[in-house]
Amino acid sequence: MTGHQAERRAVVGFAVTIMAALGLAVVYWRGGQPQLEGLLLAAAFGGLAFAMVTWANHLMPQGPAVQERHRLGSTKAERQAVEEDFERGGVIERRGFLVKALAAAAGALGVASLFPIRSLGPRPGKSLSTTPWRDGLRLVTDKGALVHTSDVAIGGLVTVFPEGHAGSADGQAVLVRVEPGLIRPRPGREGWSPDGFVVYSKVCTHAGCPVGLYEAQAHELLCPCHQSTFDVLDGARPIFGPAAGALPQLPVRIDSEGFLVATGDFPEPIGPPYWRRS
Ligand code: FES
Repeated sequence: MTGHQAERRAVVGFAVTIMAALGLAVVYWRGGQPQLEGLLLAAAFGGLAFAMVTWANHLMPQGPAVQERHRLGSTKAERQAVEEDFERGGVIERRGFLVKALAAAAGALGVASLFPIRSLGPRPGKSLSTTPWRDGLRLVTDKGALVHTSDVAIGGLVTVFPEGHAGSADGQAVLVRVEPGLIRPRPGREGWSPDGFVVYSKVCTHAGCPVGLYEAQAHELLCPCHQSTFDVLDGARPIFGPAAGALPQLPVRIDSEGFLVATGDFPEPIGPPYWRRS
């Protein structure tokens, strides 16, 4: 293969990369099509690989270089020839054009690779530190039924959600009823557990499993995943297992009809501590 033939092949490889990368960008911009995007990505990298291999094998100076032993020094004419050869880039006589083609291919690939950043979606903002719970939202079951105080016996547990958000992952909570007077509320939370009704986030602070087991005699909530245990009477403080943080408590009240109502959101982010900002 002559140098010019190799050069043409390399340029074709770069051109394939450019067209495939631009095609990838267009396909993605118009809504995306995974199979086609995969093919175009393969073509882009394939063209680049083909061009680079061709360049390395046919357009770079070939070895081995042999130097006669009896001639230890180069003549002035030889040094000048090497300098000229070096300046020309060996047999690459249009090196500038090839380098530009390489830059264009790399640039097109770079532009195409920027588009998927759009797929990351909107910034989460405060959505990771808040839940659907709001002041005035009544507690409902997973079926959407309102939770009345008469529905829960002492020692009982009900999984509850905010009214209008039944089944929500971040709104899930456990309502536990204990004998009035046993709860030791944190300062400022004296009114959060009326008549022994106390509500905690159901999302475990270890790795996010649902905390759904209740040991009524010991007043302990248990997470089935890694056996973290939380003291219901003491702000759901972890007393066993890998969880390091207490389950966030939901402030609740009992309305005039006996239904349980939230008076706000959880005071801190729910779930594993890495979501917490403070
Ligand atoms: S997720 Fe609850 S203990 Fe690990």
